Amino acid sequence: MAETRKAARLIALLLLVACEQRSFGSSTSQRPDRYELGRAATKTEIAAIDIDVNPTGSTLPPGRGTPASGAATYAAKCAACHGPHGEGIEKNPKLISNEPPAGFAFAGDVKAPKTIGNYWPYATTLFDYIRRTMPLNAPGSLTSDEIYGLVAYLLAENGVVPGDATMDAKSLPAVKMPAKGHFVKDNRTGGPTFR
Ligand code: HEC
Repeated sequence: MAETRKAARLIALLLLVACEQRSFGSSTSQRPDRYELGRAATKTEIAAIDIDVNPTGSTLPPGRGTPASGAATYAAKCAACHGPHGEGIEKNPKLISNEPPAGFAFAGDVKAPKTIGNYWPYATTLFDYIRRTMPLNAPGSLTSDEIYGLVAYLLAENGVVPGDATMDAKSLPAVKMPAKGHFVKDNRTGGPTFR
């Protein structure tokens, strides 16, 4: 009885090996160029998700906003999580700070609160971040005008731009962030190089 089971197991194993070899053997010679699945994405479909804005701001969309327009959007769509004055609520980070821009507390204290005014090196990244992630419960729902307004409001409240500044594709990349000088270009080439 035991012998029969052993033989059955051996046959099953040999069959398995044979099957695997067959599929390996055929996979290279008979693999089709196309699987006839899906289709090429249309330009409109790509445009809808090709929304990144890099530090140069070269791909910023048309639109504009001011601290006043941004304040209204902020109160309606952001304050519930980030606090009425951008002070942060529990895990929702602080967005506005009056810490002196000259200091860079994080160098000595990794837990120091990082905000737009004291940490972010580029204003354009703020547009990008808000556009793709906020409000946390409805990312992608803001119009370009709303985002320019929010960015203008947050920059003004952090003391980076005047209270009557207009933010658009031209003025936003020109904003010099207070923390910019604290970052250096990462030019490591691998290996033990670090700085
Ligand atoms: C449902 C809660 C919620 C809402 C509403 C919300 N946020 Fe946030 N926000 C968060 C959380 C949580 C984080 C931290 C995410 C992380 O660290 O990954 C965050 C992070 C951010 C940051 C990055 C802060 C930093 O310095 O790292 C910005 C800027 C921001 N939110 C702006 C906004 C704006 C503008 C709105 C309104 C349009 C908004 N948020 C609405 C929860 C929220």
